[in-house]
Amino acid sequence: MARKPLVAGNWKMNGDIVANEQLLTALRADLGRALLSRVEVAVCPPYPYLGQAAAWLGGTGIAWGAQNVAALPNGACTGDVSAAMLVDLGCQWAIVGHSERRQMAGETDAQVAARISICKLHGVGVIACIGETLDEREAGRTEAVLGRQVDAIAAALVDPVHRLPAQRVVLAYEPVWAIGTGRTASPEMAQAAHRFVRERLARQGYRHANATRILYGGSVKPANATGLFAMPDVDGGLIGGASLVADEFLAICRAAAA
Ligand code: PGA
Repeated sequence: MARKPLVAGNWKMNGDIVANEQLLTALRADLGRALLSRVEVAVCPPYPYLGQAAAWLGGTGIAWGAQNVAALPNGACTGDVSAAMLVDLGCQWAIVGHSERRQMAGETDAQVAARISICKLHGVGVIACIGETLDEREAGRTEAVLGRQVDAIAAALVDPVHRLPAQRVVLAYEPVWAIGTGRTASPEMAQAAHRFVRERLARQGYRHANATRILYGGSVKPANATGLFAMPDVDGGLIGGASLVADEFLAICRAAAA
């Protein structure tokens, strides 16, 4: 099954109006149609800069998305941003369940599933993150943790209400010990985890498991991207630190397109 790779930049809580403009200008100049026909590219800046991303990237074929989305449709949720608002800002994607949300905001599997459901309802593509901590890996619990996280996601995906097309449902395997640490999973480790995740999705009754893109995230750099993307079940990357440096992000996009 041919899956078009996706490279998404997760800017996290970084950037400012001037630095963003430089970065977006470089992406706009260097990500031509020929490249974008082979790799889908998205950037996910902090909420206040989504309008800036829309202004710079509209019409280029480069997508933009948010780093989270409210689990409720609207109302008394101070500080949250709804899926409908993301649609208003032209967002094609929302990241959900990032390990920083799970760890710093106590986000649960049930909340991640609720965010996926709300994205489905509004037609916002989801990049749902999963991954084990170092302790969990060393205790031999990687598959147990991934299995639990995938089951919650699969339950939201198989719910027949307002399906998202398969190409708008993306999972990102991000081992927590590899995020921002400079320590990357080897291509073989990533492949084993991705294979497990795909099989688990299928076992939970998600019919599009084979068409679902599974990104790898965690210290992806130009130097390790090619090896990771060569794995049959690695369908692109969710890029943190390197997505803030135009040359690095562009090199990673090119590696995914190769
Ligand atoms: P990193 O972050 O590339 O800086 O490790 C990845 C992520 O957290 O999405």
